[in-house]
Amino acid sequence: MADISTEIAEVKLETCVFNASGPKDETLEELEVIARSKSSAIMMKSCTLLPREGNPKPRYADLEFGSINSMGLPNLGYRAYVKFSKILDKKYSKPIIASICGMTVKDNVTMFKAFNDAPVDLIEFNPGSPNTIGQPIIGYDFREMNQLLKAVSKVAKKPFGVKLPPYFDFVHFEQMAKVIKKYPVKFVTCINSVGNGLAVDPITEKTLIKPKGGFGGIGGTYIKFTALANARKFYELFENKIQVIGVGGIFSGLDAFEFILAGASAIQLSTAFMQKGPAIFEIVQRELKEIMRKKGYEKLSDFRGKLKTLD
Ligand code: DHB
Repeated sequence: MADISTEIAEVKLETCVFNASGPKDETLEELEVIARSKSSAIMMKSCTLLPREGNPKPRYADLEFGSINSMGLPNLGYRAYVKFSKILDKKYSKPIIASICGMTVKDNVTMFKAFNDAPVDLIEFNPGSPNTIGQPIIGYDFREMNQLLKAVSKVAKKPFGVKLPPYFDFVHFEQMAKVIKKYPVKFVTCINSVGNGLAVDPITEKTLIKPKGGFGGIGGTYIKFTALANARKFYELFENKIQVIGVGGIFSGLDAFEFILAGASAIQLSTAFMQKGPAIFEIVQRELKEIMRKKGYEKLSDFRGKLKTLD
């Protein structure tokens, strides 16, 4: 049987497939569903200093090949996730990942410090949602990213990575990689939803979601090729010194295989988990193992990053 185990920042994961921050990971009940599923880690909802209600509903819609959302970071505040991590750690033996998405440098520093003393194994730093009204996508501001990473690096004791928005230009990949390499970042997660798409209902002639005039982050198959490109480019730029986690449009073992071939050390399910429920983790894992068996691969390192080009 193919071995699809992996390690992120030396934290062992039984398989390379787990949930992305965002869907159905806000409450303890939801996190326990993930804990009991085949997800190889328990990723928690991006948290802010104080609890947030999020944007007005409807704020999520399924699309034919994906999703649109403008959730606006509804979450119970970081103290709840510190508490949840203690409960989950006692009850389950899966790695726990906190996702931190503070509104200011100070908030992020406060939350990193709090998770230093919580039983989380990894931290995914998510510097800026595309949906927070009045806030730009921080990942596109290289100077701001530098300031944020400098500040959190000073206090972080847990291994941490950065969730990045999609980039579309080689210069931007290089600029962001240069910033990230200055700090003890262990992994990057590519990609966050593609910000500010617009979905319409031609019958009612209305937008599908309410916040921000209908604009929201796009997920699912629509973004797979952008996600793959981002995973690949950062894999090349980091030369195995910083790991890559792929997310964006992964619904099958074949999708997962392509991300690992591009260089990902693990993959996350977001829209797929939202639409298919917790059974999807096992499906993707089983399909990935089957593809590896057919190809004669025994472990992920047999093909990770080994994508061939046509030159
Ligand atoms: C939200 C969306 C994101 O893409 C993100 O990174 C964080 C939060 C949201 O709208 O809740």
